[in-house]
Amino acid sequence: MALRHFLDIADWSTDEIRGLLELGWQIKTRPADFHDALPRKTLGMIFQKRSTRTRVSFEVGMFQLGGHALFLSSQDIQIGRGESIADTARVLSRYCDGVMARVFGHDVLEELARHATIPIINGLSDRLHPCQTMADAMTLVEKWSLPGTFDVGCLRGKTICYVGDGNNMAHSLVNTGAVLGMNVTIVAPRGYWPDLGVWQKAEARAAQTGAILRCSADPIEGVRGADVVVTDVWASMGQEEEAAQRLRDFAGFTVDEAMMSRAGPDALFMHCLPAHRGEEVSAEVCDGPRSVIFDEAENRLHAQKAIMVRLMGEG
Ligand code: CP
Ligand code: NVA
Repeated sequence: MALRHFLDIADWSTDEIRGLLELGWQIKTRPADFHDALPRKTLGMIFQKRSTRTRVSFEVGMFQLGGHALFLSSQDIQIGRGESIADTARVLSRYCDGVMARVFGHDVLEELARHATIPIINGLSDRLHPCQTMADAMTLVEKWSLPGTFDVGCLRGKTICYVGDGNNMAHSLVNTGAVLGMNVTIVAPRGYWPDLGVWQKAEARAAQTGAILRCSADPIEGVRGADVVVTDVWASMGQEEEAAQRLRDFAGFTVDEAMMSRAGPDALFMHCLPAHRGEEVSAEVCDGPRSVIFDEAENRLHAQKAIMVRLMGEG
């Protein structure tokens, strides 16, 4: 099987992403069928940043598929002393069957992929967080399909409204919507809109699937009628020094009950977590009846198992 990486949802066809979501659902509903899907395979997990969900879900996922995962903090491996990304990729390729990496610059993932002979999975970069939005898409399909079914087509024509920083989560949601035919509105203060390069690439894709992508600086108009409202922290990992300024710049963009009341009557609330209650979302919404935040967190496990089986399995 040809070597594939999972760095960006936009690198995958609509049918492939649908297939991955459906595989994730099969694994979730029939886990025992996949206990030997990756026998004695090893995933190296490089972390330049902290993590709870990504680390635990990949490690548990590998174990449940019959394999094993290694936690490689960049502080503890030789990358932390200046060994090149290229050499690290070549060396890990001799020991492991795949690498998941959480990095600052997205170029680090591209460099890993250029030099590795094993699949590289994006566990979050400053640009993208595709494993999270795969779990999010899986969660929405579960919520919107008839009970006991999993119909990815139900996403078509639905509208996701992301309120907050035009960051890695915003970018991956835009890509996911563009690939699956789901409309995405980004609501953010001007100056915090998504990266133009990511946006233009997603628009080209959206033209094929019929997704409507929109940016708005108006938190009142932007949310109107949305089927799901999503947010994320205003200051991401690595932006701690900007946190105070961002707190001021995002005033009026908190997802609270007033904002949710402008969305559709059955609108769901999503957050990749960790959340800062009282900043980007009120505690009332985050912990309220529309919130599906822990379903999203759980689905990281199932969606990522599908990605690993597809990339690292024998076919
Ligand atoms: N959502 C997410 O990626 O969480 P962690 O930072 O805990 O991995
Ligand atoms: N945008 C956040 C997501 C954390 C899962 C960050 O990059 O810190």
